[in-house]
Amino acid sequence: MRIKQLRLFTTDPEHVDDRHEKTPSRSKAILESSLDTSSTDRVPRTLNDVRGTVHPPPTANDETPGLWATEPSRCTLPTLDAISRAVAECSACGLCKTRNKTVPGEGSANARLIFVGEGPGREEDAQGLPFVGAAGRLLDKLLLSMELKRSDVFIGNVVKCRPPRNRDPRPEETEACMPFLARQIELIKPDVMVILGATALRALVDAKARITAARGKWIRRSGIMIMPTFHPAALLRDPSRKILVWEDMKKVLHFLNNTPQ
Ligand code: URA
Repeated sequence: MRIKQLRLFTTDPEHVDDRHEKTPSRSKAILESSLDTSSTDRVPRTLNDVRGTVHPPPTANDETPGLWATEPSRCTLPTLDAISRAVAECSACGLCKTRNKTVPGEGSANARLIFVGEGPGREEDAQGLPFVGAAGRLLDKLLLSMELKRSDVFIGNVVKCRPPRNRDPRPEETEACMPFLARQIELIKPDVMVILGATALRALVDAKARITAARGKWIRRSGIMIMPTFHPAALLRDPSRKILVWEDMKKVLHFLNNTPQ
């Protein structure tokens, strides 16, 4: 079962990611050769079928606020839809001048699990939906491997408008947009937030954090368990990292299955 689920996620995507130049041609053989097929690890299959697995240890920084929550809320909108409408009208930073569509995020208002990326790329900017380019197709495979649908989770971004030429969002753009994400998190009240990549990690947890050091290790901020992992675009560049992301997602599934709703 482990291999079957992992293969769903590790089959090479067909297209180049538009936010992050290249899809490498390294094949899934590299990844699969790194697997221990004799492993007897029990792998969670769904959010409901894992019992008695390991909780992350409680941490000393349980009450530390996330960077998204350090200021008094500047957004008090009552629903995710209201936030999406406000994002569509927003002109709080220069990104509004170059965007086609805003990308407020999508998914369940009751999601126990949210994924947060950096910001929209070309496809997302054209469609107004998060993670619909090559990186998004890989994220879809990851969700499928976790036996989750997009509608089971919420998928958002630190900035809701595409930075021109897919450059990193600037600090003033992140700051201007953060109240929307902060309010989305506040309304959804997820148990777990998966942070996708270094930019989101630095915006949400620690401005100096490094994703290679932080990934796979639980952090708790503002009462939410956070699992940083590699951005799907990084996996397009280096598919051998997919196994690490899968290990991180197993921890997420273990946690959700051992935490009362
Ligand atoms: N990369 C991101 O960080 N977010 C998206 O929505 C798409 C690509």
